[in-house]
Amino acid sequence: MHILVVGGGGREHALAWKLAGSPRVDRVICAPGNAGTEAEPGVVNADVGSDDLDGLVALARREAVELTVVGPEDPLVEGVVDRFDAAGLRCFGPTAAAARLEGSKGFAKDFMARHGIPTAAYDTFADAEAAADFAAGLGGSVAVKADGLAAGKGVVLADTTEEARAAITDILGGALGAAGERVVVEERLAGEEASFLCLVDGEHILPLASSQDHKPLGEGDTGPNTGGMGAYSPAPVVTGGVYHRIMEEIVRPVVAGMAAEGHPYTGVLYAGVMIGDGRPRVLEFNCRFGDPECQPLLMRLESDLLDLVEGGPSGDLSRLEAAWDPRAALCVVQVAEGYPGKYEKGHTIEGLEGVPEGDQLKVFHGGTQRQAGRMVTSGGRVLGITALGTDVADARRRALETADRITWPGVYYRRDIGFRALDRG
Ligand code: AMP
Ligand code: GLY
Repeated sequence: MHILVVGGGGREHALAWKLAGSPRVDRVICAPGNAGTEAEPGVVNADVGSDDLDGLVALARREAVELTVVGPEDPLVEGVVDRFDAAGLRCFGPTAAAARLEGSKGFAKDFMARHGIPTAAYDTFADAEAAADFAAGLGGSVAVKADGLAAGKGVVLADTTEEARAAITDILGGALGAAGERVVVEERLAGEEASFLCLVDGEHILPLASSQDHKPLGEGDTGPNTGGMGAYSPAPVVTGGVYHRIMEEIVRPVVAGMAAEGHPYTGVLYAGVMIGDGRPRVLEFNCRFGDPECQPLLMRLESDLLDLVEGGPSGDLSRLEAAWDPRAALCVVQVAEGYPGKYEKGHTIEGLEGVPEGDQLKVFHGGTQRQAGRMVTSGGRVLGITALGTDVADARRRALETADRITWPGVYYRRDIGFRALDRG
């Protein structure tokens, strides 16, 4: 069967790689993909952008695609699933109405309030004065969030009322365009974060293994936030008790609530949670696989990913179970100089030849292109070196061993991915 993967980052390389390994898949088409997907056996790239919904429908028809899997949030929030449905094509993901859980932070917060799902106290504002007053009432230590999608740049953590006011003025003043027409101000939560992803078919839930991202650029979680500098799975902060609470207090009420409100949720439901004193609370929902969480998750997944995502649209998810390699997997993301700000492109990547890639070590490409026979950088997050190991320390050692062989001018990566798991001993 032919599968279409929408997107062109590290997550989509991992999805294409895993799906191409399914005995039922003849061909994976990546739109637009990158130099890594292009080189992957059984995978071809198509020159269609992930936001070109008409182009994607036409591509799926032309290539006799039986199932489409969408990587990034923008096409989902824009209604790619609805468009495929209307064209009689299967597309794994939430409808636009359900994807509002990620597409509008205000919607997500109001939804959680309606259904008693634990999250930070908040309010939503279009008026800067009222927002600043609310922030002052919380003592100034708040998270200020643009309501709409802002490519990971929509959240400012303020320590004082002055910082909160500056962020509010900035966002409502148009710094993030239409995404910042309204702003959510919420209480700062303390604890340790985890990513909890499930597959959902509108009614049934198939939880995936736990993982943890590292959003800040610098080691020890310092510096500006990025799309994610590395991730590993499983995340020991998600103990059995925490897992149970996430399922009962968050995931089940979300799935039931969306169905009750007439927008049954299908696809990946990603809950970003803060765990403090064993109590999980929601920081955000995403309507897709995490990048880079997807890379270590898929390296650990022993089941056929196609079976799992097909369980979604046909509504049989309750009969499925995902099998996981008990070892740890860890992904180190190599980024371009300047990222997450303005960064350079077009540098030749050296050292990729001879990397012993296989089921236990994989270099997932994010921002790469092939130019005149050379592999060059073309994005901020360039490569995600992902390794399995006996434990988090071993997986990190293996990932770094390979990362240290790969270079280009200005390459940067964190050497401390997984530090919270290692600090636990
Ligand atoms: P979000 O896009 O909502 O996940 O926010 C990005 C990052 O900001 C999260 O991963 C957290 O590290 C941090 N963050 C967001 N909201 C809060 C909050 N209420 N309290 C503490 N940290 C937060
Ligand atoms: N790694 C965080 C995200 O995908 O949103």
